[in-house]
Amino acid sequence: MKNESTSAPKFSTKEPAKVEPALKELFLDSIKDIYWAENHLVKTLPKMQKASTSEKLSTAIGNHLEQTKGHVSRLEQVFELLGEKPQAKKCDAMEGLTKEGEGIIEDTEAGTATRDVGIILASQKVEHYEIATYGGLAKLAKTLGLEDVAEVLVQTLNEEKEADELLTGIAENDINYQSSQEA
Ligand SMILES: [Fe+2]
Repeated sequence: MKNESTSAPKFSTKEPAKVEPALKELFLDSIKDIYWAENHLVKTLPKMQKASTSEKLSTAIGNHLEQTKGHVSRLEQVFELLGEKPQAKKCDAMEGLTKEGEGIIEDTEAGTATRDVGIILASQKVEHYEIATYGGLAKLAKTLGLEDVAEVLVQTLNEEKEADELLTGIAENDINYQSSQEA
């Protein structure tokens, strides 16, 4: 007289309605985090620019500062698309990376190619952090069905990649050799 084994399970193991708000919250939190990071860079990039000697490097950092202001505006656009007010949440990673950059400036001599190499190293760490963040967030936006948000994030992602490549070029063609000639 047993017949319960063939009946459908009484409960569902997946509850997508609960998962999605948590993922959206994580996404929004990460946007707040990178918003803090970009605003922080607007404050710290001028120091890096001032400390650099090579004109190419100084110009590249100056141009990236202007781009970074654009990244802040794009994130404000993202907040608007999400129906949220722009809000920054302290990004410990970016604070650490920029502190490292400041440390390199303190530990190297002004006017040397060695300091420029250090500035490039620190700047590329920042760029790679941003590339990882924007790349991941753009994918997450797509997962959440936020195509318009993903598009905005990809625009910034591409600019971060270009900035990184530009720094690689400056290091390879203009600065690393010079610094190897310094005592
Ligand atoms: Fe940026």
